[in-house]
Amino acid sequence: MDTMRSEMEKDILKILVTEEQLKTRVAEMGEELYEKFQGKKPLFLGVLKGSFVFMTDLVRACQLKSDVEFIAVSSYGNATASSGRVKINHDLQQDITGRHLIIVEDILDSGNTLAFLKQYFLTKGAASITIVTLLDKPARRTKAITADLSGFTVPDEFVVGYGLDYAQMYRNIPYIGVLKPEVYAGT
Ligand code: PRP
Repeated sequence: MDTMRSEMEKDILKILVTEEQLKTRVAEMGEELYEKFQGKKPLFLGVLKGSFVFMTDLVRACQLKSDVEFIAVSSYGNATASSGRVKINHDLQQDITGRHLIIVEDILDSGNTLAFLKQYFLTKGAASITIVTLLDKPARRTKAITADLSGFTVPDEFVVGYGLDYAQMYRNIPYIGVLKPEVYAGT
């Protein structure tokens, strides 16, 4: 194990989803999407930054004729969970009129981000919207949003790794772990 990885791992309380479990589940999700979208040429639409690791594995697990696109968003202000206002930091770079979208998220938490994006993509003329999330944290939901396909349901704990961050770090940990509370205490 190299130094950087072991240094980050000191901050991890426990492993929630192992690399092996991720690999198996992402392969299953890819197969399911393959069956659903055969002959439809869907557009995989990753929501940055958190989805970037999952996105690369998912598209390779789903050998469909398809293309990829990204959008980057963040929540406005401090009261993010309650305000529900979302800001687009990097917008779509193509016309999505008539396209079958597969929105790819790392985590569905309050549902604010996906509630906003679903509406936004509909106004842009998407033909259909399928929400795929690696992790689902239903305990925190405030919006009536559900995933069409979810990898794992997780408890209300501070999860990092496989794209998910704390203060922009830990995204490169190859599994999903729970952060030690002392790492984010006082923030
Ligand atoms: C995370 C995650 C989702 C959103 C989910 O993004 O990637 O986009 O939060 O939360 P919600 O259901 O409460 O809206 P974050 O704002 O942490 O940015 P990041 O993807 O750049 O890490």
